[in-house]
Amino acid sequence: MSVKIKTLEWIGDIDGFLRLIDQRVLPHVLPRRLVYMDCYDVPTLVEAIRMLAVRGAPAIGITAGYGMSLAAQKINDHTDLAQALQALRKQADVLASSRPTAVNLFWSLDRMMTCAATFIADNSGASIIDLQRALLLEARAIHTEDRQMCQAIGEHGEKLIPEGGSILTHCNAGALATGGIGTALAPMYVAHEHGKPFHVYADETRPLLQGARLTAWELLQGGIDVTLICDNMAGMLMKQGKIDTVITGADRIAANGDTANKIGTYGLSILAAAHDIPFYIAAPSSTFDLKLSCGNQIPIEQRSPNEVTSFGDRPTAPEDVKVYNPAFDVVDASKITAIITEKGIIENPDADKIAAHLG
Ligand code: MRU
Repeated sequence: MSVKIKTLEWIGDIDGFLRLIDQRVLPHVLPRRLVYMDCYDVPTLVEAIRMLAVRGAPAIGITAGYGMSLAAQKINDHTDLAQALQALRKQADVLASSRPTAVNLFWSLDRMMTCAATFIADNSGASIIDLQRALLLEARAIHTEDRQMCQAIGEHGEKLIPEGGSILTHCNAGALATGGIGTALAPMYVAHEHGKPFHVYADETRPLLQGARLTAWELLQGGIDVTLICDNMAGMLMKQGKIDTVITGADRIAANGDTANKIGTYGLSILAAAHDIPFYIAAPSSTFDLKLSCGNQIPIEQRSPNEVTSFGDRPTAPEDVKVYNPAFDVVDASKITAIITEKGIIENPDADKIAAHLG
């Protein structure tokens, strides 16, 4: 069964809007009766990203690209192109303030601003409508390329899934996190298409349960054999020999291969090393940040205490307890067996291999 989840979709032409699956309410919806969020302006999109209605590094990047198209719609026809560029810069800054860790957001905004600046430099007599067209075309290109990168990651990564093996994954790096079949889940979808037998363990991923709510849901939709576990069970399963491979996604990869991903990924990498289990990161080239030499420089999002003091809507801790809630942690490159990108596989990643791989 192929993946049919459309996490985000631009509806219409330059005067269109972005339709997102509202992931906050998953999985308590029937198949085919998903709840959608239609976004007509930048503030709504910023809120959708902050509240995790749309989430996952590549999906956030694509959303930001379309966000710049929404920003361009608000520019008055009579504005001159230099002022239009300034107005777009302001909206790009607003979008950039939504979440700090996933570099795909900033990568996409830079790409959209470069597109606007280049278009204006090359077309001094153009109208605002022409500029809007150029921006929508670029946002659509980011979306299409992401879909292709996911597919390529799936094809490279599929070879790393042992026949009949068990894979552990964390958070959600699937179709719901991208414009295509995902990053960490892409090799699983491709293996499934090829008829290769394998089994997946999905960590529930406290505090927001992306593994339980999203990964378990989308793998079931795809007909993939999945078992849900609590985060603190992974070590025991490894000790029992029940995990052959770990594959997770990434939010930002520094030049030396240190990788930020959902909180809990660091612990898994240590456990995998202790049990001699290969640990793979799957991510497109848009997730690398070569400006950062190592993982210590990656900004880590701190989220609201409420996410830790409750389970869903139910309070589970004293109201006034102190809380620490970092949303991501950083895996040392030395603990990563390989990084799977759309271009292939970087084994034992380091700065030289990554630079050569990305060209
Ligand atoms: O807070 P989230 O749900 O946006 O975190 C998502 C992750 O950590 C994913 O693993 C990562 O973005 C890769 S998605 C292909």
